[in-house]
Amino acid sequence: MTAKKLHIKTWGCQMNVYDSQRMADVLAPLGYAESDEIEGADLVILNTCHIREKATEKVFSELGRMRKHRAEKEKAGGKMAFAVAGCVAQAEGAEILRRDKNVDMVFGPQTYHKLPEMIANWESANGKTRILNTEFPPEPKFDHFPAEQATRGTSAFVAVQEGCDKFCSFCVVPYTRGAEYSRPAADIISEIKHLIAKGVREVTLLGQNVNAWHGDGLDDTTWDLGRLIFQLAEINGLDRIRYMTSHPRDMHDMLYRAHGEVPQLMPYLHLPVQHGSDKILETMNRKHTADDYMRIIHRLRDIRPDMAFSSDFIVGFPGETDADHRATMKLVDEVGYAAAYSFKYSRRPGTPAAKAGKQVSEDIKDRRLQELQTKLYADQTAFNASKLGMTIPVLLDRKGRNDGQLQGHSPWLQTVNVAAPDRLMGQIMDVTITKTTQNSLTGEIVTIAPISEIHAA
Ligand code: 5AD
Ligand code: SF4
Repeated sequence: MTAKKLHIKTWGCQMNVYDSQRMADVLAPLGYAESDEIEGADLVILNTCHIREKATEKVFSELGRMRKHRAEKEKAGGKMAFAVAGCVAQAEGAEILRRDKNVDMVFGPQTYHKLPEMIANWESANGKTRILNTEFPPEPKFDHFPAEQATRGTSAFVAVQEGCDKFCSFCVVPYTRGAEYSRPAADIISEIKHLIAKGVREVTLLGQNVNAWHGDGLDDTTWDLGRLIFQLAEINGLDRIRYMTSHPRDMHDMLYRAHGEVPQLMPYLHLPVQHGSDKILETMNRKHTADDYMRIIHRLRDIRPDMAFSSDFIVGFPGETDADHRATMKLVDEVGYAAAYSFKYSRRPGTPAAKAGKQVSEDIKDRRLQELQTKLYADQTAFNASKLGMTIPVLLDRKGRNDGQLQGHSPWLQTVNVAAPDRLMGQIMDVTITKTTQNSLTGEIVTIAPISEIHAA
């Protein structure tokens, strides 16, 4: 079989990054090999994100830019298929096919296991048919993915849960990803064991609402995420466990216990609060107050004093006043985040908040976002600076910017640059931090003795 070239461009969340990898895994047996470059590709997949405005326009302008590559391939006598996947495909599939005649296939996030069938149909019609598949099939796609993920480094994502039943009033995810689904523990464990056999040491359990995971356990009962983490801690060679993204409402006793008792569970949690004002949290349909959230933070810090947090924030939600915004600033100050993502509220058609009367002006959104980000960046810089002089374990997982450098991650997901030989790639090394900035740390490895010293000892 001659190798066909597959190019995937991914926008959005880690779930999309994971999905793109799994699409490549599904297509590998059909002879498609993934490439970072679009030139000469036989199949290009745009894996899109619909969370904020302009998502659809971004897709169309990318399709426009890609057209010249397709023309070149045709000139050389070949064919380059364009496919649009992900949440924009789910939400606007028919519109995409209507507006851009160059698009051959559109398929939503729940159909990726059907890719071989869709591609075969398209190929057998000699590219003369167009495919639209945005169904939510009854069988979960995970059951039809190859058991093994192709590994890409020492840190891997494993989707354990998908979809969302929370219906925050601003968010499209419950519509584009569908209802919550939890994979059985046995499948998750088997996928992780395959990854470890190939050199993976760190796994991030992924889900839109990952701490709502409630899957079949190994003992015929339903487990929660805390119980699953205790089980994963038994897997030899799994040195680091993370999970994201969590919802404050789904923090449960077993998960707190896991944070206290499982050393492999990293002391870092992405726990979006979205806002600091109870009035706004209510209209967002978050079903928790700012106080509820702070209680979670305190409880986790009591259990693990070195626990650090990140969050997502939305400014300019309909009806937000200056006082509401100040409540967000106050909460941020109380938590002291290690990192955070903040966004201007973006009206999403079909969501309840889009119809709210009191939309906030762009000017005010800009001003509030800037104030919030200035504070969040200062806190991130301070958090990084708090590690100066400390010796911390770093998983060295990629090449650094310069020769003789490797890059890794701290337990708190900070990027750490160190001078290190390539042979230490994939190792967890103790590193003394010598310099910190807003975005990264620099340090020196503590314990590598030159070979001559080891012999002398
Ligand atoms: N406008 C702005 N931000 C949004 N998010 C989700 N929907 C919207 C929206 N309509 C943000 C939330 C969520 C993150 C993934 O994206 O903060 O946690
Ligand atoms: Fe969207 Fe809320 Fe579900 Fe997160 S919890 S995916 S913000 S609806």
